[in-house]
Amino acid sequence: MELTNRPRRLRRTDAVRRMCRETRLSPDSLIYPIFVDETLSGTRPIESLSGQYHYGLDSVTKAVEDCLQHGVTHCILFGLPKSKDAVGSSAWDENGVVQQAIRSIKAAYPDFYVITDVCMCEYTDHGHCGILCGHEVDNDKTLEVLSKTALSHVEAGADMVAPSDMMDGRIAAIRETLDQHGYTMTPIMSYSAKYASAFYGPFRSAAGSAPSFGDRKGYQMDPHNRKEALKECALDVEEGADILMVKPALSYLDVIRECSDAFELPMCAYQVSGEYAMIKAAAAAGLVDEYRIMCESALSIFRAGANMLITYYAKELADAIRKGDIG
Ligand code: PBG
Repeated sequence: MELTNRPRRLRRTDAVRRMCRETRLSPDSLIYPIFVDETLSGTRPIESLSGQYHYGLDSVTKAVEDCLQHGVTHCILFGLPKSKDAVGSSAWDENGVVQQAIRSIKAAYPDFYVITDVCMCEYTDHGHCGILCGHEVDNDKTLEVLSKTALSHVEAGADMVAPSDMMDGRIAAIRETLDQHGYTMTPIMSYSAKYASAFYGPFRSAAGSAPSFGDRKGYQMDPHNRKEALKECALDVEEGADILMVKPALSYLDVIRECSDAFELPMCAYQVSGEYAMIKAAAAAGLVDEYRIMCESALSIFRAGANMLITYYAKELADAIRKGDIG
């Protein structure tokens, strides 16, 4: 047999495989979610997310220290406030849980990059992502509270804000508010194509943010849709977003690929709580090799076109990259 083309030549040894990798990962592109609970002192394991913790305001710097030990230098903050009301006013309180957390992180670790999730669902007593009018979320009224919330995060020292509410026009509204207050250089990462997904289940029990009635289908995207993701991204580009995001990740690799091909902005993906919890559960049942599944799933998200990844596995992935098991 005289074969000229033998793709196996480039697969023979670890050295040649590593040289020929098409996808490269770096710990710099990993973002770790941190949950801060205003009513907590110390840390508490999150039941729905094995291996993850709630941090009290007195121990949020411990979360950062753990990240830094693994070489993870970026986080996204989520807050569990001590009180909730119909409009979510604890979200923009200058002494709210996220605002205090930012200040203590920045006092101890000024270079640690802090992104904040901007949404109302953890702060409203009904668990929806905005202000209600009857049983519907009022889009334009919600823009005002989102803008106030984003501004309060930036005033407290956040490096970047990431609105996850899926209201129309929120990027323009937040950009205008930040600019008016002199924060023209603070970037916005938009959860552009955020689907109404069942994969958020473990997060909602961790963050206490499940809607008390109905669902989020009136504002988050229908999982059947692909072109709509392009439309959402295009609107965000027009409104001044700096980074686009697709969420969840693994069931939406096609959307990541398409949006990253279509737009010049950096593309983030969020490997959400259900994706993480499923790997954990399958590994705990002895069905899969957790480490290899973690590596392969993260890799697939980058191969699909993501430039950065929010993941509960950020620390373990940073170690895997450093060891050369991926990236
Ligand atoms: C807030 C928000 C959610 C997630 C990130 N920001 C929950 C939701 O939309 O219900 C989900 C993250 C995850 O599942 O890991 N709106």
